[in-house]
Amino acid sequence: MQISTIPTTPYTDQKPGTSGLRKKVPVFQQPNYLENFVQSIFDSLEGYQGETLVVGGDGRYYNRQAIQIILKMAAANGFGRVMVGQGGILSTPAVSCIIRKNRAFGGIVLSASHNPAGPNEDFGIKYNISNGGPAPEKVTEAIYAHSKAISQYRILEAGDVDLDRLGTTQLGVMVVEVIDCVTDYAALMESLFDFNRIQQLLTNPSFRMCMDSMHAVTGPYAHALFEGRLGAPAGTVMNGKTLEDFGGGHPDPNLVYAHDLVEILFGDQAPDFGAASDGDGDRNMILGRQFFVTPSDSLAILAANAKLVPGYSSGLSGIARSMPTSQAADRVAERLGIDCYETPTGWKFFGNLLDSDKATLCGEESFGTGSNHIREKDGLWAVLFWLNILAVRQESVEQIVRSHWQTYGRNYYSRHDYEGVDSGRAHQLVDRLRGLNLKGQQYGAYEVEYHDDFSYTDPIDGSISQNQGIRIGFTDGSRIVYRLSGTGTQGATLRLYVESYEPNIAKQSQDTQEALSGLIAIANEVAQIQDYTGRDQPTVIT
Ligand code: G1P
Ligand code: ZN
Repeated sequence: MQISTIPTTPYTDQKPGTSGLRKKVPVFQQPNYLENFVQSIFDSLEGYQGETLVVGGDGRYYNRQAIQIILKMAAANGFGRVMVGQGGILSTPAVSCIIRKNRAFGGIVLSASHNPAGPNEDFGIKYNISNGGPAPEKVTEAIYAHSKAISQYRILEAGDVDLDRLGTTQLGVMVVEVIDCVTDYAALMESLFDFNRIQQLLTNPSFRMCMDSMHAVTGPYAHALFEGRLGAPAGTVMNGKTLEDFGGGHPDPNLVYAHDLVEILFGDQAPDFGAASDGDGDRNMILGRQFFVTPSDSLAILAANAKLVPGYSSGLSGIARSMPTSQAADRVAERLGIDCYETPTGWKFFGNLLDSDKATLCGEESFGTGSNHIREKDGLWAVLFWLNILAVRQESVEQIVRSHWQTYGRNYYSRHDYEGVDSGRAHQLVDRLRGLNLKGQQYGAYEVEYHDDFSYTDPIDGSISQNQGIRIGFTDGSRIVYRLSGTGTQGATLRLYVESYEPNIAKQSQDTQEALSGLIAIANEVAQIQDYTGRDQPTVIT
């Protein structure tokens, strides 16, 4: 087998976003497009000769083709071994777990997360470092710099590897090991949670659970864990077959896109517990019977109940949340006497805090929760954590959440997304907000206490990340945040985040949009959202 050096010319648009490089499939199918990016990843790394790389994806369209290219390029560039999930499948948390367990040099995740899949939909590629987490900005910037100057890539001339057969094969001098996608991950979950107690809960006929894998990557994991190891009845997992187009759906576990599950949990005879995960398995949505748990509340509740779960019973070192995530977790941290960190949006910012044991649990309002067990957010981990709490407390999801609010107060919280708006106008909206001086302004009962563009200094390496979102904070603790998405592939997406705090138990049962209506009106007025987006309604409200 021969190594070829192929001349190429740069593409100018290979700048990784919030979570790797995401583009439409036809963009990735352009000549040398994927090859250029993969070579740029390798060119920005040092010391990987003979080392192990983990490769897998969420099973979406173009996953298998991309993996064949990556395997041959890894062989040509000198990796010693690639561990790849059977059928090319590995959830994002499983990649993180496998990198750590095998002390691999790094990993490549093929996914566009919750974005739709198919020949004309999205594809993505992301590099993870040896701690199992997404590459930090200095690495993604180096990759981008290489992509703009690339003149050649290296690839092994070889036939395709059989991705469906477990075991090892040789690709030149490199070993390819096709591994079961579930085994290592399931063992890690079993080391953290009380599987016996969860099993008792799931085999009790008076408890019913429904897990929606949305035809994406968690199907095999959910079947093996819930219906296999934990004994839940067959049929507990719905949409559990991983499909290249995710069944034509939009595998984003929220109230809008996980509609199959929402109908069941809000219907008659609803089960006790519902959960969904996204395309690559790192997001989660938690539902009780006719009850939605906001991701921000979920983080706070996991933290407040962590002592009930074996893997966390010795206490938490700290909690971290992304800036737009509600401040519910801050109140739990305060009571536990631990630090709460506020980071920019994106899981990569949690890596240093987890590595240095400053935080044990992390979360984002965007349906992401996780801990120091890996360096990605982890959808099924969150589901198991909830099940462990339910098994111990023997209360309903709603009871647990309401009693949490009674103790800590309720943070009403909502996000409004304006998707696919004109990119120029969206940037003008943000630029205009940045230029305003709102401190001290009065809007009805609300007085602006601070107004800034969030900037974060990493407490470990001192790196500074600026322009991470416009914040307007009011004297009563309410907040409005605006930022533009860094994961979209078409136009721009404006995200508006609104939060208020309600300590009064008698006022904790309002509808969220109603409770926040005053602040939402202020948010629309201050940013002139209608004018800039041309929309009078958000695309998605969560
Ligand atoms: C979105 C979420 C963010 C999450 C990211 C990757 O990024 O808002 O919390 O980390 O997806 O799952 P955004 O599109 O807002 O840049
Ligand atoms: Zn995801």
